[in-house]
Amino acid sequence: IQQKFVHQVIGHSATNNRLASKNKIGSGSAPVNIALSKYWGKRDATLNLPTNGSLSISLPGLGTKTQIERLESQNQQTDLVSLNGQRLDQDNAFAKRVSQFLNYFRETPQTFFKVDTENSVPTAAGLASSASGYAALVLALNDLFAWNLDNKSLSLLARLGSGSASRSLFNGFALWHQGQQADGLDSYAEAIDTTWPEFCVGLLEIDVKQKPVSSTQGMQNTVETCALYQAWPQQANQDMQTILQAIKDHDFATLGKTAEHNALTMHATMIATWPPIVYWQPESVEAMHKIWRLREQGVAVYFTMDAGPNLKLLFLETEKPAILQAFKQIKILEPFKS
Ligand code: DP6
Repeated sequence: IQQKFVHQVIGHSATNNRLASKNKIGSGSAPVNIALSKYWGKRDATLNLPTNGSLSISLPGLGTKTQIERLESQNQQTDLVSLNGQRLDQDNAFAKRVSQFLNYFRETPQTFFKVDTENSVPTAAGLASSASGYAALVLALNDLFAWNLDNKSLSLLARLGSGSASRSLFNGFALWHQGQQADGLDSYAEAIDTTWPEFCVGLLEIDVKQKPVSSTQGMQNTVETCALYQAWPQQANQDMQTILQAIKDHDFATLGKTAEHNALTMHATMIATWPPIVYWQPESVEAMHKIWRLREQGVAVYFTMDAGPNLKLLFLETEKPAILQAFKQIKILEPFKS
């Protein structure tokens, strides 16, 4: 099914360019993104089709750089995957997932690849790198095979690796369409054509240990066992529209409020899952209270959270001094200036 999808997306260009691109190294890089209205739940796990649309902002300076080449030796019967300069074992979870994804792109069953991935995401940020990872890998494959795909097709392919990767092809704001079709060809992300240079994201690290439940597993359990989840797709799509309009209007209060509410609603469905999924640590809740206190004092700051205990703070550049004073260990990212 995935193979058929890939064929539909890349058409015949891969075959046409195969000889011309032989021996070449493909490279690509992509930013990390943070969803302001979240993706949580799949309507089709094989094609990574979401139950709702989502909207994100990419983080400048944080992301993944990937290089890929074919392994020519007949003796080489596996892919060679390395992460930040370290060769990974074949049974390493990251390497396995990459190889599985590469299965969709092998010219023959005997084609293996060498993949070198560099994440500039500081471990301190506690950010998932699968989004930037699969976006960068798809860009590297596009380069290796000389497909020349447009952003829509690249986003469709990245989605197959990890849903949130569909949004990592873009700098700035991006919107991932839920799509309606069973073939998955209408579920891709697009850049939102706006500049908002005052918009800042701050990373508040609570705990950087690996999450106990992956997003993939967590959302599956939520869809299967959480009665509250029924309300989620509609609310999520509505939040996405509200945030889209707020971005166009540069209406920060509406954006912040809606993004925070959206994240807390997602976490409410996680908590109401069985077995419960609680990504929060006591310090996460403490930070939330601190943010709410700051808001009472007139500081326009909001937060969002993903499948982990860390908070991402949303604010405008004018509030930077107040934020730095309140959170000593925060890492503030400058927005994309374009
Ligand atoms: C909470 O994209 O990591 O960060 O499609 O199974 O790889 P898979 O899941 P993934 O889920 C991200 C979930 C989230 C919300 C979001 O980024 O929209």
